[in-house]
Amino acid sequence: MHILETERLLLREFVPEDVDALALVLSDPDAMRYYPAVLNRAGVAAWIERNRRRYADAGHGLWAMVLKSSGEVIGDCGLTRQCVDGTEEVEIGYHVRRDLWGHGYAPEAACASQGYGFRQLGAARLISLIRPENLASRRVAEKTGLSLWKQVIWRDLPHCVYAIRKT
Ligand SMILES: CC(C)(COP(=O)(O)OP(=O)(O)OC[C@H]1O[C@@H](n2cnc3c(N)ncnc32)[C@H](O)[C@@H]1OP(=O)(O)O)[C@@H](O)C(=O)NCCC(=O)NCCS
Repeated sequence: MHILETERLLLREFVPEDVDALALVLSDPDAMRYYPAVLNRAGVAAWIERNRRRYADAGHGLWAMVLKSSGEVIGDCGLTRQCVDGTEEVEIGYHVRRDLWGHGYAPEAACASQGYGFRQLGAARLISLIRPENLASRRVAEKTGLSLWKQVIWRDLPHCVYAIRKT
């Protein structure tokens, strides 16, 4: 099921068969540099299951980012609920396979997810939680209209909270 379509990408729900394509992203030490650990294959399968539970429970989660020209899954992007400073926020998240960085795929998918968050979910605000050192991700947030709101400790690590309000 396609959730969103952009010029070059489709976002759809992950299925268990996506594990190998997603492992090329979430098992890559460069892509996971700002995370506590890379995921092994079982970890990627569990990650997909976690998002499938989110689709069932909340109607959304991190979706598979599919390159229309080849049909390949090249990453993920979507919306998850996160508790930040005691408030539930809707977060835009994204990961792209390393050999495809720099083509603007993350901002393209993030913009579409932003539209979904404001229109379909009716969120008043969308955020991204980003490690301060993750300059590439901070650029994606800026390019998609978010601005630095505050810094917090989240899951024991310093994070910048980028935010955009519904206009
Ligand atoms: C952050 C990320 C999703 C950006 O995806 P993308 O599709 O490459 O996004 P863009 O093409 O718009 O590039 C964004 C920035 O990445 C940096 N960048 C681009 N190409 C790069 C490359 N080959 N190597 C390293 N950084 C690069 C640049 O700073 C760029 O900003 P600019 O356009 O102002 O120059 C991607 O780098 C990634 O998957 N990182 C690992 C996962 C991650 O950190 N996710 C976010 C967690 S908060």
